[in-house]
Amino acid sequence: MIKRIFIAMTVGIGIISFILYLTEKEETINKEVDLGVSIKYEPFKSNEDYLNIATEKFESWTIENEMKMSFIHPRENEFNFSKADEIVDYAKKNNLNVRGHTLVWGSSVPDWVKEKAVDSDSAKKILKNHIQNVVGHYKGKVDSWDVVNEAWEDDGSYTENIWYKLIGPEYIPLSFKWAREADPNAKLVYNDFNNQIINKKSKQMLKTLVGYKKDNIPIDGIGMQMHLNAEDPTFSPKNIEKQMNNIEKHGFQIEITEMDVNMKKIPDKESNIQSDIYTKVGEECKKSNACGGLTVWGVDDSYSWLSEKDKNATPLLFNYEGEKKDVYERLINILEETD
Ligand code: GLA
Repeated sequence: MIKRIFIAMTVGIGIISFILYLTEKEETINKEVDLGVSIKYEPFKSNEDYLNIATEKFESWTIENEMKMSFIHPRENEFNFSKADEIVDYAKKNNLNVRGHTLVWGSSVPDWVKEKAVDSDSAKKILKNHIQNVVGHYKGKVDSWDVVNEAWEDDGSYTENIWYKLIGPEYIPLSFKWAREADPNAKLVYNDFNNQIINKKSKQMLKTLVGYKKDNIPIDGIGMQMHLNAEDPTFSPKNIEKQMNNIEKHGFQIEITEMDVNMKKIPDKESNIQSDIYTKVGEECKKSNACGGLTVWGVDDSYSWLSEKDKNATPLLFNYEGEKKDVYERLINILEETD
């Protein structure tokens, strides 16, 4: 008798666990992925159509340039918050999520830093002061920060930026620690390009970040920039899926932070390549339990960093006239779809 009761209980517990597992799975499949966009100050201020698209068609804003160190901290004792403040305040009033970009990046270092940072101690002091002032200023307003941007090269070696040269690789965990101290509730992200698949660079990145996590360094997520090229023959959703699983396994969240699809010589009207690439990446993000957002790098083609260099570039979801391309609907349907 006791044996029977025991078997019945075991089976019962098994069934309940299975139902709980299915419910949990269902919830994760049903998660929504925010579609975000990067915002430039000039059109934000002066172009009403731009502002309408950015507000109505996207759920999250990243400040494209006005929070980079050269801009926001132009002199030793001067912070230039006003333009970023305007964007952040507007976004908050309109219930948009805000991504801060980017606290530490070797390609945005003001001249005064190059003079004043002369050894490890002076560089640490400057970097800590920068991070804590900026993060402190936006405490409670910026939901997630790209804390360190582009710290590794394609061959897996460290990028030799000023912080690395003076402080060594330690500048990475220190930056995350300082950011967390300044706003304990903001999500802290490491952001890079070519890390959406497994390669020398992303292996080194992940190994190092996993090590930091074990040492309790507060790194919440990994940003995949996803500046993609429609002519890239190696593009593979399967490989992106593998890498997303790989990152999730180590307990990091994922955000796609700067997506665009450069068409180069492919005339976009004659091809679905761009639309397919966006939607395949969207599908991978949707499938992954770890991936919570997909941000595109610009509102429409005329305001892309790529069209600053090439007047024919068409990498985004809205065209030069601010008209929605078909890909927008395809992508939003995937990201918002619930069963
Ligand atoms: C990197 C940076 C972005 C932007 C692009 C294009 O991806 O993270 O802020 O500047 O380069 O220049």
